[in-house]
This record gives sequence, C-alpha cells and structure tokens, in this order.
Amino acid sequence: MESLVSLRGVTRTVVLPDDQKLHILRGIDLEISAGDHTAIIGRSGCGKSTLLNLLGLLDVPTSGEILFLGTPVLRIGGNARARLRGSTVGFVFQQFNLLPGRSALDNVITPLLYARGRDFLRRRELAMDMLDRVGLAGRAQTMPNMLSGGEQQRVAIARALVRRPRLILADEPTGALDVETGQSVMALLDQVATESAAALVTITHDSNVAALARSRFRLDSGVLHPLDGESNSGIALSEPALSALAASGSAPLGPTSSEVDR
Ligand SMILES: Nc1ncnc2c1ncn2[C@@H]1O[C@H](COP(=O)(O)OP(=O)(O)OP(=O)(O)O)[C@@H](O)[C@H]1O
Ligand SMILES: [Mg+2]
Repeated sequence: MESLVSLRGVTRTVVLPDDQKLHILRGIDLEISAGDHTAIIGRSGCGKSTLLNLLGLLDVPTSGEILFLGTPVLRIGGNARARLRGSTVGFVFQQFNLLPGRSALDNVITPLLYARGRDFLRRRELAMDMLDRVGLAGRAQTMPNMLSGGEQQRVAIARALVRRPRLILADEPTGALDVETGQSVMALLDQVATESAAALVTITHDSNVAALARSRFRLDSGVLHPLDGESNSGIALSEPALSALAASGSAPLGPTSSEVDR
C-alpha cells in the first residue's frame, strides 16, 4: 500500500515560559499507508494531539523526519503545506467545531470553497451527496444548535470527507457522545474511510473505538508502543484487556507485541 505519512525518529519539544523544555514526543516512528485504520490511545497530556497535528501538516517536528506523500514536510513551504493539507487531510474533532449560524449544508460546503475546478463548481451537489452518505440529507438546512451531538458529529464527518481526503485524522471523535451514538458515529467513519480507501487515524480513550481499528498503539511519555502484532485483522485484544489498557495506560505485551515492522 502507498505510504501517506512516514515518521522517523520524530520529536516535538516546546519551550515553556520559564525556559524549561518540555519534550512532548521523544522519537516516534510511524507509517500510515492508504487504507490503514490506526488507533492511538494514551493518557491525557501524553502528546496525542501533538502527534495528530504533525500527521496532519498542522505542525512540524523539532527533529526527525516526516515524509508526506514521499516529500519531507520541512521542504514544503507554509502555503503549499496548507494547500496540501486542505486537499489531502480531513479532520474530525471531539467538539465537532461546526460553524454556528450556518446550516449543515453550508458547513459541509466550507472546505470546497478552497477547492479548484470541478469540485468548486459542483460544491453544493458534492456537499449534499456527502450529507446523504451520513444520513442527514433531510437536515441540510438545519443549524448546528438544532442538531443532536451525534448528528453534529455526522455533519463534521461529512465536512471532513467532502474533499475526498486520503488521510482522515480523528481526535477523540466520540469523546462528547454517549456510548451508543459514539459507536454508530465510529462505524460510519470506518465505513466512509473504507469506501474511499482513505487512511483513518483515530485518537481515543474508548476501548470499543480502539477495537475497531486494524492496528493500535499506545502513546506513553512521548514514545509510541504497538499494542498488538502486525496486520491485526479483527480484534486481537480482548475487551477487558483493552478497557484495562485505556484505564491504566499499561500494555499487555505478549511475545510478538513489540514487533511491528511496517
Ligand atoms: N505549544 C505548546 N506549548 C506548551 N505546552 C504544550 C504545547 N502543546 C502541547 N503542550 C503540552 O504538551 C502536552 C501534550 O499535549 P497534547 O495536547 O498533545 O496532549 P493529549 O495527549 O492530546 O491530551 P488530551 O488527551 O488531554 O487531549 C501537554 O502537557 C500540553 O500541555
Ligand atoms: Mg488531545
């Protein structure tokens, strides 16, 4: 499968106001290829969003190398990086981040305002198709504050996917939803990612969400640990094990668990 993003020895360090250095990521190796469904779990503050921002071209590493579609990100200028992000990456956030006072349809159209050619000209039709795919064609003219949390997240998914991104990055997409709604939103995200052969990277505290992914990692103290062997088709970890993991942040490493060479 074609490599979308490749991280080699990536670190991210920030300097705090008291001049102390905070080493958030300490040498991350990660490969995301077309069609991958990857989950990353870890305690609050362990650097998950920082990692996702690097994967999605929102930030650059302090050291190490990130190749995005084969090109080192540091060689891509700021404007080009923003364009590449817009055309290649779709983000889904915990708090939906819909524009208030704009209809569901207008929210989904927004990313297409930055598109060119046919996609720009057909933006209304493309956005309606996407709303239809998330089951909300009938609510196109509804304002976000009149939609339930699950519906708002489905609009956000439609917005993230309307430019057919090759990489979908979801930061706690079910964090603001009840368990059942979260599961249906996740199943939808999984389905639309699969249909479009996009890669999906999900950050989550929820073991049920992690269980949907085909490969799983735990981020701990800025280091990424594989949670199970390569090409984890199906659920390699038992539910109780995953729940315990999400709660404790400790890895049940079996003999093969530390070997993920992809
Ligand atoms: N620009 C920054 N300046 C200073 N500290 C930062 C910066 N960005 C992140 N941090 C700190 O780095 C750590 C990791 O942040 P990050 O947002 O990646 O955590 P997270 O794993 O996503 O947490 P959560 O699960 O709560 O969302 C936190 O302690 C955060 O305060
Ligand atoms: Mg976060």
